Amino acid sequence: MNDRIEALLKQIEELKAQKEQEVEEMRVRFLGKKGEITKLFEEFRTVAPEQKKLFGQRLNQLKNAASAKIDELRKAMEELGSTSACTFDVTKPGDTFELGTRHPISITRDEIIRIFNKLGYALAEGPEIEDDWHVFEALNFPPEHPARDMQDTFFITSGQYPAELSAQEQSDATREGIMGHNPILLRTHTSSVQVRTMEKKQPPIRVICPGRVFRNEAISARAHCIFHQVEGLYIDKNVSFADLKQAILLFVREMFGEHTQIRMRPSYFPFTEPSSEVDVSCNICGGKGCNICKGTGWLEILGCGMVDPNVLSACGIDPKVYSGFAFGMGIERIAMLKWQVRDLRQYFENDVRFLREFQTEI
Ligand code: PHE
Repeated sequence: MNDRIEALLKQIEELKAQKEQEVEEMRVRFLGKKGEITKLFEEFRTVAPEQKKLFGQRLNQLKNAASAKIDELRKAMEELGSTSACTFDVTKPGDTFELGTRHPISITRDEIIRIFNKLGYALAEGPEIEDDWHVFEALNFPPEHPARDMQDTFFITSGQYPAELSAQEQSDATREGIMGHNPILLRTHTSSVQVRTMEKKQPPIRVICPGRVFRNEAISARAHCIFHQVEGLYIDKNVSFADLKQAILLFVREMFGEHTQIRMRPSYFPFTEPSSEVDVSCNICGGKGCNICKGTGWLEILGCGMVDPNVLSACGIDPKVYSGFAFGMGIERIAMLKWQVRDLRQYFENDVRFLREFQTEI
């Protein structure tokens, strides 16, 4: 045993390392659970009692020497590591990378949501791929309404009705979801989210529904087949047209400035009665008339109205107890008016020169 202790002491004294990993390997070899020194300690149990004192001391010396050497090597490695890793100049300025900017449509959408959040509207979202019931039928669109035509709507499955069914039978078939006649389509407005909200929840309901919508239209400076809308819905007891007008007025003043005026013109939507279109006073000329407002002093911004009782019934809400209003606006249009963007196609082209112009807005 004595010889082995002497041999190990010598080995340990001569240990050298280049890498930290080697030091760890040495520790395992000598002091690990199955290490050579650990083994000697196990054997020590069988040593004759009169020799125990001597070997005990030698063994402890060996163990201490090994630990000390390994600590020393480890320290040396650490120092080496920290000096060799630091070959770059820490005082040099960092590499800069270009930050993107938020898209004007996102900026506008978030601003609209922020304003309506303040008025107590919660956010609601729904699928872009919808069915006929949620986009048209529940919203009181008659079966022969032109919006249901292939010309206006992108259908995914046609769900064509057999020619012998009357309009009423077609409508019943869709409502009951029978015969597979609930065509699947890309939503043409986010009013479908309002239907889904009313189906799930009883009033009071106050939601704002932003989202992407699709219409089969030729692409031009003023129209695109993909665009974005925000629609709002408020249902409760005794909700009146005056409440609608006040909500719209508060919104446009936050969005376009506190001196903005509104004008409501009678209009028609299948899902609201009465219906109205809303104009704001031109924020460029202040209402005097310019080429943006085509000399009228007014700019059209949204459609709205009192929710038709048929819509409430279709969604499981009692129209004798509750009333409400809805409104809907195109985000591209609001953004165009706010920043005088002349061609709607710019929103989709992702030309960074255009996008960078919105860096500091809102
Ligand atoms: N859904 C209508 C559209 O897409 C907008 C609207 C919503 C009008 C709610 C009235 C009430 O044009």
